[in-house]
Amino acid sequence: MCRHWRTLFVVSLALVSAGCARKTGAASALKPTSFGAELVESSGGKQIGATGMVLAQPLVVQVNDDQGNAVTGALVEFSGPAGVSFDPPGGLTDSSGQLSANVALGSMAGRYQLIAHTSTKAQKSVELKIEEIALGYQEQLGFQLDNKYCARCHNPESTPERVSNYDNLEVKPHPFTEGDTLNKMSDADLTAIIGHGGPALNKSALMPPYSFTLSKAEIEALIAYIRLISDPPYHASGMVYAQK
Ligand code: HEC
Repeated sequence: MCRHWRTLFVVSLALVSAGCARKTGAASALKPTSFGAELVESSGGKQIGATGMVLAQPLVVQVNDDQGNAVTGALVEFSGPAGVSFDPPGGLTDSSGQLSANVALGSMAGRYQLIAHTSTKAQKSVELKIEEIALGYQEQLGFQLDNKYCARCHNPESTPERVSNYDNLEVKPHPFTEGDTLNKMSDADLTAIIGHGGPALNKSALMPPYSFTLSKAEIEALIAYIRLISDPPYHASGMVYAQK
């Protein structure tokens, strides 16, 4: 993932999302004691993790009946692209109608579409799609650089280690997940504003220049990271985004 990272990146996207969804089957021995009408995500979607690693938060889904009440004892099964594993791969919902699983993403960087599945009493299949992001080596470098240099202005949230400066800024920068803004900027624009600061694109000088601090490869890593975490997803021009 160095010189032609864009191409490789898109190829991995295609592989990750087109890789055949497998059913682990381990949960099929379980017999549901009741059935629901809908599946909703309680928490654990849209996480940003690392390739091959277990996501920080478990994925929690809930089965409801047609009145929106939680259903206990409904069977939920998880599936995802090749390389993704769920612990457990499925099970019966608990007294709050929920099932929780730890998710490990595959070895490819990219966006992963996971599926939770349950059936209604009439055996109609109900599916819920959940998206997670796996950062590869280059994007992880970008993530670390973001934490070190950019997040104090670009992320409005403070953490114990880092106090956000966002509220003090007269001109508000965008969080890097904000695809509506960042997807409209070309790689050349991003390289220019990161290297030479806001004035390079006739923007505020509150955005500092980093060409003295960061190498070209580091700026590329930041851009790879920004492109991957973008919501809505970034569509590289001329490339088909392989998602169902
Ligand atoms: C001191 C605060 C500060 C830091 C640190 C900072 N930025 Fe910014 N950045 C800004 C501000 C303010 C803007 C908005 C400028 C405007 O719209 O006129 C901005 C704009 C941008 C933009 C254009 C999109 C947007 O958000 O409006 C990009 C891309 C960007 N910054 C990348 C980075 C990267 C990458 C880093 C870390 C290497 C970084 N910035 C660090 C303040 C900062």
